[in-house]
Amino acid sequence: MFYQVVIPAAGQGKRMKAGKNKQFIELYDQPVIVHTLKVFERDEWCEGIILVINEAERERFNEILKRFSIKKVISMVSGGAERQHSVYNGLKKVKNSDIVLIHDGARPFITVEKIHELVQAAKEHGAAVVAVPVKDTIKRGFDGYVHETMERSSLWAVQTPQAFHVSLVLEAHERAFLEGYIGTDDASLVERMGKQVKIVEGDYRNIKLTTPDDLLFAQAILSSWSSC
Ligand code: CTP
Ligand code: MG
Repeated sequence: MFYQVVIPAAGQGKRMKAGKNKQFIELYDQPVIVHTLKVFERDEWCEGIILVINEAERERFNEILKRFSIKKVISMVSGGAERQHSVYNGLKKVKNSDIVLIHDGARPFITVEKIHELVQAAKEHGAAVVAVPVKDTIKRGFDGYVHETMERSSLWAVQTPQAFHVSLVLEAHERAFLEGYIGTDDASLVERMGKQVKIVEGDYRNIKLTTPDDLLFAQAILSSWSSC
């Protein structure tokens, strides 16, 4: 079962405070983006990677692909102001594939097994996301006071990858673009078209590297894997 994947990597990593795009931070002698790309390099189902980058970093990405022998990148496109614009630019380059995955460059710990589960769910349901049950109690707050306590048993923390039939997610992005709507993830654009999105239970280790603390977790995850 084959797919192509759009990997947005055109952000600025402001919350990481590393003074550079966090994709270039090295973990165990490899940039974050290489850890992410290598999962898809390994996956036989992955037919092509569309990497979304900041134009000013094109040369740096090219060097990295060469140095780490990444072969599946079929297109490197420019990102936009928001992640959603970056993903849309990437989706427009998908060709000859029924299923597309969208996966953050800054989420290096996804596994091939989980990707396969997700692809199968997307094939069957049209849209699927990897998510984990929320562990904390979530309250809605306004002006410093609790307004409402959410029913935790129905809450999911949604991650990437998210997988879709190509035509469905392209239509969802196109509509959002025309209406100037920005969602917090790609599945939400499909949801607002009234389509169902299947949840595939994921792994708490599939973290997105967002703030400096996440680098500590990343080191711990990598060291636990290297000792297996
Ligand atoms: N991204 C992108 N284009 C943007 C913004 C984000 O391609 N305009 C990518 C990031 O490179 C990252 C993923 O989307 O791989 C998830 O975004 P996020 O974690 O928010 O990364 P940044 O936007 O880089 O970080 P920050 O919000 O802290 O600046
Ligand atoms: Mg961001």
